[in-house]
Amino acid sequence: MLDEVALVAAVVAAVREDRLWQRHMEIATIGATGRGGVNRQALTPEDAEARRWVLEWAAGRGFETSVDAIGNLFVRRAGSDPTALPVVSGSHLDSQPTGGNFDGVFGVLAALEVLDAVNDAGIATQRPLDAVVWCNEEGGRFQPTTMGSAVFAGVLPLETALATRDRDGIAVEQALADTLKTAPVAKRHEFRSPMAAYLEAHIEQGPVLEATKRTIGVVTGIQGLRWFQIEVSGEEAHAGSTPRRNRKDAVVAAVDMVKALQDLMFDEADTVRFTVGRFEVAPNSPNTVPGHVLFTIDFRHPDQGVLTRLGDQIEGVCQAAAKGCGVRVVETMTAPPTGFDPAVLGLIRDAAQRQALPHIDIMSGATHDAKFMAGHCPSGMIFVPCERGISHNEAEMASSADLAAGARVLTAALLSLAEG
Ligand code: HGY
Ligand code: MN
Ligand code: MN
Repeated sequence: MLDEVALVAAVVAAVREDRLWQRHMEIATIGATGRGGVNRQALTPEDAEARRWVLEWAAGRGFETSVDAIGNLFVRRAGSDPTALPVVSGSHLDSQPTGGNFDGVFGVLAALEVLDAVNDAGIATQRPLDAVVWCNEEGGRFQPTTMGSAVFAGVLPLETALATRDRDGIAVEQALADTLKTAPVAKRHEFRSPMAAYLEAHIEQGPVLEATKRTIGVVTGIQGLRWFQIEVSGEEAHAGSTPRRNRKDAVVAAVDMVKALQDLMFDEADTVRFTVGRFEVAPNSPNTVPGHVLFTIDFRHPDQGVLTRLGDQIEGVCQAAAKGCGVRVVETMTAPPTGFDPAVLGLIRDAAQRQALPHIDIMSGATHDAKFMAGHCPSGMIFVPCERGISHNEAEMASSADLAAGARVLTAALLSLAEG
């Protein structure tokens, strides 16, 4: 019987850089925009096609698949002890509207690469190894972000998620039903099913690893975030005949709100992350005074006190700039700063050290499904660099060598966890 070090080394050696890269290029064709990136938004036909790719991959290996009521997809490689809790790894396949080819995809394909490497090495792990594809991590089409993992973890009610509509008025429930028609999964997976541990591999989506010449980021935690939707209701009027003093111009009010919010959120240390990513005007006609504006706020910070102090002022700042318009502020997601399990972080560090990979502890600026898993079981994340830290951009790029290095560290850490 191989001792654990030799067993792990054998499986790590079975990780194939070429196979991993090739699969990234295959997934990159699904929803390709022709400008180097993808538009594979949650529960679109493109997302369904990517899920079908995973289901076909699983069927080819005889791995059992299951799906939960919000569409999170699980693939299981059985362990020698069917009563043992699974070790789980994965990420997401849905993208931003102008997304890259590695955000989320790397975490899913790295998890599948681990299952292939364990198969190729002919190893039986004690615990089952599960790969997971979380539904709607990005939150671009259906808010909020990390919807699937939030529902799985019991943070967001299923009914609320299913009733959420996109800008065309399509509900998650309908889009999910259509997706499951295209990519059907017979077996049901329960929410909050117990797990021994969860690990997620992801590109950093920031500049630190490249700047410090590290291959592996040992992710110590994820900064907190608060998402809001602001609706400003004025009054449509004729652009030519309505005097200024008679107007309730929703754009003028909304622009003042955004400026006031920028002033509120400004910090010299440049730690606050404040983004107005969506700004929709209605009726969006050049010669009608806008009666309605909807805009979103994505506010993040590593310190809960700052999230509370500044986030709680958002509604008052908007009301103060309303200029006679109506204002409705809805908080659509709040997630506190999250820390990962020190023992899991230790396994990641050990694996990077054994594989002689330069590594560094790092806090994640981006959010990930792992934040909700941290409250469910011992969890952690592994980062690899992406070029110039660019992400949520079609130019997003990672090197095949770094992706393979991340997959090898993931393999070693998962195997240690799978052997109890
Ligand atoms: O928004 C995020 O941080 C993630 O990339 N969806
Ligand atoms: Mn992601
Ligand atoms: Mn993303």
